[in-house]
Amino acid sequence: MIIEAYSPGRVNLIGDHTDYSGGLVLPMALDTGTTVRFSPLPTTTVTLRSDADPAPAAIETDVVDPTTIQPAWARYVAGVVVELRSAGYDISGGTGSITTTLPLGAGLSSSAALEVATALALGALGSALEVAQLCRRAEQLASGVPCGIMDQLAATAGVQGCALLIDCRLLTVDPVRIPDGLEVVVIDSGEHRALVGSPYVERRADCERAADVIGPLRDAARGDVERIPDDRLRRRARHVVSENERVAEAADALRTADLQRFGRLLRESHRSLRDDFEVSTPALDALVDELNCTTGVFGARLTGAGFGGCAVAVVERGTVIAGRRVHASAGARVRELKG
Ligand code: GLA
Repeated sequence: MIIEAYSPGRVNLIGDHTDYSGGLVLPMALDTGTTVRFSPLPTTTVTLRSDADPAPAAIETDVVDPTTIQPAWARYVAGVVVELRSAGYDISGGTGSITTTLPLGAGLSSSAALEVATALALGALGSALEVAQLCRRAEQLASGVPCGIMDQLAATAGVQGCALLIDCRLLTVDPVRIPDGLEVVVIDSGEHRALVGSPYVERRADCERAADVIGPLRDAARGDVERIPDDRLRRRARHVVSENERVAEAADALRTADLQRFGRLLRESHRSLRDDFEVSTPALDALVDELNCTTGVFGARLTGAGFGGCAVAVVERGTVIAGRRVHASAGARVRELKG
């Protein structure tokens, strides 16, 4: 028996560094992703080969600490194995392969796609939210990065033709149709990075310290933010509070096909991530500036965690710019192949 599981990556249209404080995000699942083909066998080792690495990964089904596993990408697989076991699954060993059409480390959630495809291939059941929550725990365990739910939930809950308005506090997903006149282009800055060792952890800690002063950032108003005495914490909170407002407004702009307004919100989001949250880089700033001066571009911003990776641009249909044109796609799926 061969089980084939596929998970898309995601691009976030707007709403970055808001998920881990219970905020709003607006990502979409991509039409590129990661496939895991797995044959269960009477063994206690999960052996997987990746098309992105000649070194195979061999993970014992009783693995305890994913951070010790080599090669490094296999830590995500090990994280999934640990989390499936602690959720009560009886995991079989076996052999399989991983293929991906996602650029790795480019901010398009290649690690979430690997986790979700692995979880489904190894037998994870349950709702999109349940699988996403399991995979988020796996990511945190494997990488030590205290990520939010956005990437895994966008991968499991994707809807063709729609962006997903996710409320990361209520954990609801509200599909918002992408209007016909708008296309989404992802442009790689060429600066690739891993979140491990990045200032992501510090940014999250800053948000928690700001919340200690004014209460949950999700409930805070702009006026509350100005009460924070520390300049750095005030700017971090200002980004989060204003970004939540922008996401709500952006979802509304999509629904009413107000593409100029949608684009303006993306531009404002980039400025806020650059100046207040300080997660952009000179290369991303130059790329976004250039995009925002290009005819046919409604708006562009960095997407994902920042510190390198990709920019996303929303453009008038038919506009020719260099980059990867992406389409909002369905979420992860699994099937059994004969053989
Ligand atoms: C990474 C994390 C997400 C989210 C984004 C920033 O992709 O995995 O949970 O925090 O960064 O929006």
